[in-house]
Amino acid sequence: MIKAKDLTKVFNSGLLLSKNIITAVDEVNFEIGRGEILALVGESGSGKSTIGKMMLKLLKPSGGQILLEDKDIFSISNNKEFYSRVQGIFQDPYSSFNPIFKVNRIFKLVRQSFKKEISISEWNDRVEEVLKKVGLNAGDVLNKYIHQLSGGQLQRLLIARALLMDVEVLVADEITSMLDASTRVDVLEALLSLKEIGASILFVTHDLSQAYYISDKIVVLYKGSVVESGSIEKVFSNPMHPYTRMLLDSIPQLDRKWEEDRISVEDFDKSRAAWKEGLCKYIDRCSLADVNCMRPKLKLVEEDHYVACVKI
Ligand SMILES: Nc1ncnc2c1ncn2[C@@H]1O[C@H](COP(=O)(O)OP(=O)(O)OP(=O)(O)O)[C@@H](O)[C@H]1O
Ligand SMILES: [Mg+2]
Repeated sequence: MIKAKDLTKVFNSGLLLSKNIITAVDEVNFEIGRGEILALVGESGSGKSTIGKMMLKLLKPSGGQILLEDKDIFSISNNKEFYSRVQGIFQDPYSSFNPIFKVNRIFKLVRQSFKKEISISEWNDRVEEVLKKVGLNAGDVLNKYIHQLSGGQLQRLLIARALLMDVEVLVADEITSMLDASTRVDVLEALLSLKEIGASILFVTHDLSQAYYISDKIVVLYKGSVVESGSIEKVFSNPMHPYTRMLLDSIPQLDRKWEEDRISVEDFDKSRAAWKEGLCKYIDRCSLADVNCMRPKLKLVEEDHYVACVKI
Protein backbone atom coordinates (compact mmCIF):
# COMPACT_ATOMS: atom_id res chain seq x y z
CA MET A 1 0.00 0.00 0.00
CA ILE A 2 1.26 3.45 -0.90
CA LYS A 3 0.32 6.76 0.65
CA ALA A 4 1.02 10.41 -0.13
CA LYS A 5 1.10 12.58 2.95
CA ASP A 6 0.98 16.36 2.56
CA LEU A 7 3.03 15.86 -0.59
CA THR A 8 4.42 19.13 -1.95
CA LYS A 9 6.71 20.09 -4.82
CA VAL A 10 7.92 23.60 -5.46
CA PHE A 11 9.87 24.34 -8.63
CA ASN A 12 12.19 27.30 -8.87
CA SER A 13 12.88 28.17 -12.46
CA GLY A 14 14.32 31.21 -14.18
CA LEU A 15 17.19 33.32 -12.99
CA LEU A 16 17.39 36.11 -10.46
CA LEU A 17 14.97 38.81 -11.59
CA SER A 18 12.82 36.51 -13.71
CA LYS A 19 12.74 33.89 -10.98
CA ASN A 20 9.58 31.86 -11.14
CA ILE A 21 8.34 29.79 -8.25
CA ILE A 22 5.62 27.26 -8.96
CA THR A 23 3.99 25.10 -6.36
CA ALA A 24 3.27 22.25 -8.74
CA VAL A 25 2.00 19.94 -5.99
CA ASP A 26 0.46 21.45 -2.90
CA GLU A 27 -0.05 19.33 0.22
CA VAL A 28 -1.64 16.40 -1.56
CA ASN A 29 -2.91 13.39 0.39
CA PHE A 30 -4.13 10.04 -0.90
CA GLU A 31 -3.78 6.35 -0.26
CA ILE A 32 -3.83 3.43 -2.70
CA GLY A 33 -4.53 0.09 -1.07
CA ARG A 34 -3.58 -3.35 -2.37
CA GLY A 35 -5.39 -4.15 -5.60
CA GLU A 36 -6.74 -0.61 -5.91
CA ILE A 37 -6.57 1.75 -8.85
CA LEU A 38 -6.59 5.46 -8.12
CA ALA A 39 -7.26 7.80 -11.03
CA LEU A 40 -5.39 11.08 -10.86
CA VAL A 41 -7.10 13.61 -13.12
CA GLY A 42 -6.80 17.31 -13.86
CA GLU A 43 -5.93 19.47 -16.79
CA SER A 44 -2.49 20.03 -18.27
CA GLY A 45 -0.06 21.47 -15.73
CA SER A 46 -2.08 20.44 -12.68
CA GLY A 47 0.80 18.42 -11.22
CA LYS A 48 -0.12 14.83 -12.13
CA SER A 49 3.22 13.78 -13.60
CA THR A 50 5.10 15.55 -10.83
CA ILE A 51 3.27 13.36 -8.31
CA GLY A 52 4.03 10.25 -10.40
CA LYS A 53 7.70 11.17 -10.63
CA MET A 54 7.96 11.66 -6.87
CA MET A 55 6.35 8.25 -6.32
CA LEU A 56 9.05 6.79 -8.56
CA LYS A 57 11.81 8.64 -6.71
CA LEU A 58 12.64 10.55 -9.89
CA LEU A 59 11.97 13.84 -8.11
CA LYS A 60 12.39 14.73 -4.47
CA PRO A 61 9.42 16.27 -2.68
CA SER A 62 9.85 19.77 -1.25
CA GLY A 63 7.57 18.75 1.60
CA GLY A 64 5.56 15.83 2.87
CA GLN A 65 6.20 12.16 2.30
CA ILE A 66 5.40 9.12 0.22
CA LEU A 67 5.00 6.05 2.36
CA LEU A 68 5.32 2.52 1.02
CA GLU A 69 3.97 0.19 3.70
CA ASP A 70 4.51 3.05 6.17
CA LYS A 71 8.13 3.56 5.16
CA ASP A 72 9.24 6.81 3.53
CA ILE A 73 10.38 5.78 0.03
CA PHE A 74 13.31 8.18 0.19
CA SER A 75 14.66 6.24 3.16
CA ILE A 76 14.87 3.09 1.02
CA SER A 77 18.45 3.47 -0.13
CA ASN A 78 18.60 0.23 -2.10
CA ASN A 79 17.27 1.31 -5.49
CA LYS A 80 17.24 -2.20 -6.86
CA GLU A 81 14.92 -3.26 -4.06
CA PHE A 82 12.78 -0.17 -4.54
CA TYR A 83 12.38 -0.60 -8.30
CA SER A 84 11.59 -4.27 -7.91
CA ARG A 85 8.55 -3.09 -5.94
CA VAL A 86 7.61 0.14 -7.71
CA GLN A 87 7.56 0.65 -11.47
CA GLY A 88 6.42 3.34 -13.88
CA ILE A 89 4.94 3.29 -17.37
CA PHE A 90 4.69 6.48 -19.42
CA GLN A 91 3.01 7.94 -22.46
CA ASP A 92 5.87 7.00 -24.77
CA PRO A 93 6.68 3.31 -24.28
CA TYR A 94 9.66 3.37 -26.67
CA SER A 95 11.72 5.30 -24.12
CA SER A 96 11.31 2.53 -21.53
CA PHE A 97 13.06 -0.15 -23.57
CA ASN A 98 16.58 -0.70 -24.74
CA PRO A 99 16.23 -0.50 -28.54
CA ILE A 100 19.12 -2.89 -29.26
CA PHE A 101 17.52 -5.82 -27.40
CA LYS A 102 14.90 -8.18 -28.65
CA VAL A 103 11.90 -8.69 -26.38
CA ASN A 104 13.01 -12.13 -25.17
CA ARG A 105 16.36 -10.65 -24.05
CA ILE A 106 14.49 -7.98 -22.08
CA PHE A 107 12.50 -10.64 -20.22
CA LYS A 108 15.67 -12.70 -19.60
CA LEU A 109 17.23 -9.64 -17.98
CA VAL A 110 14.20 -9.19 -15.72
CA ARG A 111 14.76 -12.73 -14.42
CA GLN A 112 18.47 -12.18 -13.96
CA SER A 113 18.00 -8.91 -12.12
CA PHE A 114 14.97 -9.63 -9.99
CA LYS A 115 13.86 -13.26 -10.07
CA LYS A 116 17.02 -15.39 -10.13
CA GLU A 117 15.41 -17.93 -7.84
CA ILE A 118 13.08 -19.01 -10.65
CA SER A 119 14.47 -21.66 -13.03
CA ILE A 120 14.82 -20.74 -16.70
CA SER A 121 12.21 -23.21 -17.88
CA GLU A 122 9.70 -22.07 -15.28
CA TRP A 123 10.45 -18.46 -16.20
CA ASN A 124 9.81 -19.14 -19.88
CA ASP A 125 6.45 -20.70 -19.01
CA ARG A 126 5.62 -17.67 -16.89
CA VAL A 127 6.56 -15.26 -19.66
CA GLU A 128 4.25 -17.07 -22.05
CA GLU A 129 1.41 -17.12 -19.53
CA VAL A 130 1.79 -13.44 -18.65
CA LEU A 131 1.94 -12.40 -22.30
CA LYS A 132 -1.31 -14.25 -22.87
CA LYS A 133 -2.81 -12.44 -19.90
CA VAL A 134 -2.05 -9.05 -21.46
CA GLY A 135 -3.41 -10.18 -24.82
CA LEU A 136 -0.13 -10.84 -26.61
CA ASN A 137 1.09 -13.95 -28.34
CA ALA A 138 4.61 -15.00 -27.32
CA GLY A 139 5.39 -16.19 -30.86
CA ASP A 140 4.45 -12.77 -32.26
CA VAL A 141 6.55 -10.62 -29.98
CA LEU A 142 9.47 -12.42 -28.32
CA ASN A 143 11.69 -12.42 -31.37
CA LYS A 144 11.10 -8.81 -32.29
CA TYR A 145 12.99 -5.61 -31.64
CA ILE A 146 11.20 -2.72 -30.00
CA HIS A 147 10.86 -0.72 -33.22
CA GLN A 148 9.05 -3.68 -34.79
CA LEU A 149 6.18 -3.43 -32.29
CA SER A 150 3.25 -1.04 -32.01
CA GLY A 151 2.71 1.41 -29.16
CA GLY A 152 -0.16 -0.69 -27.78
CA GLN A 153 1.95 -3.87 -27.89
CA LEU A 154 4.78 -2.10 -26.06
CA GLN A 155 2.50 -0.76 -23.34
CA ARG A 156 1.21 -4.29 -22.83
CA LEU A 157 4.78 -5.61 -22.72
CA LEU A 158 5.57 -3.12 -19.97
CA ILE A 159 2.53 -4.30 -18.05
CA ALA A 160 3.67 -7.90 -18.63
CA ARG A 161 7.08 -6.97 -17.22
CA ALA A 162 5.44 -5.46 -14.14
CA LEU A 163 3.35 -8.64 -13.74
CA LEU A 164 6.46 -10.84 -13.97
CA MET A 165 8.15 -8.70 -11.33
CA ASP A 166 5.09 -8.92 -9.03
CA VAL A 167 5.30 -5.17 -8.51
CA GLU A 168 3.51 -3.69 -5.52
CA VAL A 169 2.99 -0.26 -7.06
CA LEU A 170 2.61 0.87 -10.65
CA VAL A 171 2.58 4.49 -11.77
CA ALA A 172 0.83 4.61 -15.17
CA ASP A 173 1.14 8.13 -16.60
CA GLU A 174 -1.05 8.75 -19.67
CA ILE A 175 -0.26 5.27 -20.95
CA THR A 176 -3.12 5.16 -23.43
CA SER A 177 -2.96 8.65 -24.86
CA MET A 178 -0.94 7.64 -27.92
CA LEU A 179 -3.21 4.70 -28.74
CA ASP A 180 -6.32 4.29 -30.83
CA ALA A 181 -9.61 3.50 -29.13
CA SER A 182 -9.62 -0.29 -29.54
CA THR A 183 -5.99 -0.72 -28.45
CA ARG A 184 -6.72 1.49 -25.47
CA VAL A 185 -9.24 -1.01 -24.16
CA ASP A 186 -6.68 -3.85 -24.50
CA VAL A 187 -4.15 -1.87 -22.46
CA LEU A 188 -6.73 -1.01 -19.79
CA GLU A 189 -7.69 -4.69 -19.58
CA ALA A 190 -4.01 -5.58 -19.16
CA LEU A 191 -3.77 -3.06 -16.35
CA LEU A 192 -6.66 -4.80 -14.62
CA SER A 193 -4.60 -8.00 -14.54
CA LEU A 194 -2.05 -6.13 -12.42
CA LYS A 195 -4.81 -5.06 -10.07
CA GLU A 196 -5.76 -8.75 -9.77
CA ILE A 197 -2.32 -9.63 -8.41
CA GLY A 198 -2.78 -6.98 -5.72
CA ALA A 199 -0.76 -4.09 -7.16
CA SER A 200 -1.63 -0.52 -6.13
CA ILE A 201 -1.96 1.52 -9.31
CA LEU A 202 -1.79 5.27 -9.84
CA PHE A 203 -3.59 5.85 -13.12
CA VAL A 204 -2.84 9.33 -14.46
CA THR A 205 -5.20 10.37 -17.20
CA HIS A 206 -6.92 13.20 -19.01
CA ASP A 207 -9.75 10.90 -19.90
CA LEU A 208 -12.50 10.67 -17.33
CA SER A 209 -14.28 7.82 -19.09
CA GLN A 210 -11.13 5.70 -18.84
CA ALA A 211 -10.77 6.72 -15.21
CA TYR A 212 -14.30 5.54 -14.56
CA TYR A 213 -13.80 2.31 -16.49
CA ILE A 214 -10.97 0.96 -14.37
CA SER A 215 -10.56 2.93 -11.14
CA ASP A 216 -11.79 2.46 -7.59
CA LYS A 217 -10.91 5.95 -6.40
CA ILE A 218 -10.29 9.34 -7.91
CA VAL A 219 -8.31 12.44 -7.01
CA VAL A 220 -9.15 15.61 -8.95
CA LEU A 221 -6.28 18.09 -9.03
CA TYR A 222 -6.45 21.77 -9.81
CA LYS A 223 -3.17 23.68 -9.93
CA GLY A 224 -1.50 21.23 -7.61
CA SER A 225 -4.30 21.06 -5.05
CA VAL A 226 -6.88 18.35 -4.54
CA VAL A 227 -10.32 19.83 -5.13
CA GLU A 228 -12.28 16.61 -4.83
CA SER A 229 -11.49 13.00 -4.02
CA GLY A 230 -13.12 9.78 -3.00
CA SER A 231 -14.67 6.63 -4.38
CA ILE A 232 -15.09 6.83 -8.14
CA GLU A 233 -18.78 5.92 -7.89
CA LYS A 234 -19.52 8.70 -5.43
CA VAL A 235 -17.56 11.42 -7.19
CA PHE A 236 -19.04 10.53 -10.59
CA SER A 237 -22.61 10.17 -9.36
CA ASN A 238 -22.48 13.26 -7.19
CA PRO A 239 -19.69 15.62 -8.28
CA MET A 240 -19.71 18.64 -5.98
CA HIS A 241 -16.75 20.86 -6.79
CA PRO A 242 -17.51 23.28 -9.66
CA TYR A 243 -14.28 22.18 -11.37
CA THR A 244 -15.16 18.47 -11.21
CA ARG A 245 -18.62 19.30 -12.53
CA MET A 246 -17.13 21.21 -15.42
CA LEU A 247 -14.85 18.25 -16.23
CA LEU A 248 -17.69 15.76 -16.10
CA ASP A 249 -19.95 17.99 -18.19
CA SER A 250 -17.34 18.12 -20.89
CA ILE A 251 -16.64 14.37 -21.13
CA PRO A 252 -17.69 13.92 -24.78
CA GLN A 253 -15.26 16.56 -26.03
CA LEU A 254 -12.83 16.44 -23.18
CA ASP A 255 -9.65 16.62 -25.24
CA ARG A 256 -10.83 19.62 -27.22
CA LYS A 257 -12.16 21.29 -24.13
CA TRP A 258 -8.85 20.99 -22.35
CA GLU A 259 -6.96 22.22 -25.30
CA GLU A 260 -9.08 25.38 -25.09
CA ASP A 261 -8.89 25.59 -21.34
CA ARG A 262 -5.15 25.06 -20.98
CA ILE A 263 -3.97 27.24 -18.13
CA SER A 264 -2.18 30.27 -19.45
CA VAL A 265 0.77 31.77 -17.63
CA GLU A 266 -1.30 34.87 -16.84
CA ASP A 267 -4.06 32.73 -15.43
CA PHE A 268 -1.54 30.85 -13.35
CA ASP A 269 -0.06 34.09 -12.05
CA LYS A 270 -3.48 35.51 -11.29
CA SER A 271 -4.41 32.44 -9.30
CA ARG A 272 -1.11 32.49 -7.52
CA ALA A 273 -1.75 36.06 -6.49
CA ALA A 274 -5.24 35.11 -5.31
CA TRP A 275 -3.76 32.19 -3.44
CA LYS A 276 -1.26 34.42 -1.73
CA GLU A 277 -4.10 36.54 -0.50
CA GLY A 278 -5.64 33.39 0.91
CA LEU A 279 -8.31 32.98 -1.77
CA CYS A 280 -9.34 29.81 -3.59
CA LYS A 281 -7.15 28.87 -6.60
CA TYR A 282 -10.21 28.21 -8.73
CA ILE A 283 -11.70 31.65 -8.07
CA ASP A 284 -11.00 33.04 -11.57
CA ARG A 285 -13.00 30.34 -13.30
CA CYS A 286 -15.66 29.47 -10.78
CA SER A 287 -19.31 30.31 -11.34
CA LEU A 288 -20.01 30.18 -7.61
CA ALA A 289 -17.09 32.37 -6.55
CA ASP A 290 -17.32 35.56 -4.57
CA VAL A 291 -14.84 37.61 -2.58
CA ASN A 292 -15.39 35.44 0.47
CA CYS A 293 -14.01 32.29 -1.17
CA MET A 294 -11.11 31.79 1.16
CA ARG A 295 -8.62 28.97 0.80
CA PRO A 296 -10.76 25.84 1.19
CA LYS A 297 -9.73 22.72 3.03
CA LEU A 298 -10.88 19.28 1.94
CA LYS A 299 -13.89 18.25 3.95
CA LEU A 300 -15.86 15.05 4.21
CA VAL A 301 -19.22 15.45 2.47
CA GLU A 302 -20.32 11.81 2.65
CA GLU A 303 -18.53 8.54 3.33
CA ASP A 304 -15.50 8.21 0.97
CA HIS A 305 -16.08 11.60 -0.61
CA TYR A 306 -14.13 14.83 0.07
CA VAL A 307 -14.53 18.28 -1.47
CA ALA A 308 -12.54 21.49 -1.06
CA CYS A 309 -15.03 24.32 -1.59
CA VAL A 310 -16.33 26.80 0.93
CA LYS A 311 -19.68 26.93 -0.89
CA ILE A 312 -20.40 23.29 -0.16
N1 LIG B 1 11.36 20.32 -13.90
C1 LIG B 1 10.50 21.32 -13.79
N2 LIG B 1 10.93 22.59 -13.57
C2 LIG B 1 10.07 23.62 -13.43
N3 LIG B 1 8.73 23.49 -13.51
C3 LIG B 1 8.24 22.26 -13.73
C4 LIG B 1 9.09 21.11 -13.89
N4 LIG B 1 8.32 20.01 -14.10
C5 LIG B 1 7.05 20.46 -14.08
N5 LIG B 1 6.99 21.80 -13.86
C6 LIG B 1 5.77 22.62 -13.74
O1 LIG B 1 4.94 22.04 -12.75
C7 LIG B 1 3.57 22.11 -13.13
C8 LIG B 1 2.97 20.70 -13.14
O2 LIG B 1 3.55 19.96 -14.21
P1 LIG B 1 3.18 18.44 -14.49
O3 LIG B 1 4.05 17.95 -15.58
O4 LIG B 1 3.20 17.69 -13.22
O5 LIG B 1 1.66 18.56 -15.00
P2 LIG B 1 0.69 17.45 -15.58
O6 LIG B 1 -0.56 17.53 -14.77
O7 LIG B 1 1.36 16.14 -15.66
O8 LIG B 1 0.38 18.02 -17.05
P3 LIG B 1 0.12 17.22 -18.43
O9 LIG B 1 -1.32 16.79 -18.36
O10 LIG B 1 0.34 18.27 -19.50
O11 LIG B 1 1.07 16.07 -18.52
C9 LIG B 1 3.54 22.82 -14.47
O12 LIG B 1 3.28 24.17 -14.24
C10 LIG B 1 4.94 22.61 -15.01
O13 LIG B 1 5.30 23.64 -15.87
MG1 LIG C 1 1.90 14.87 -17.26
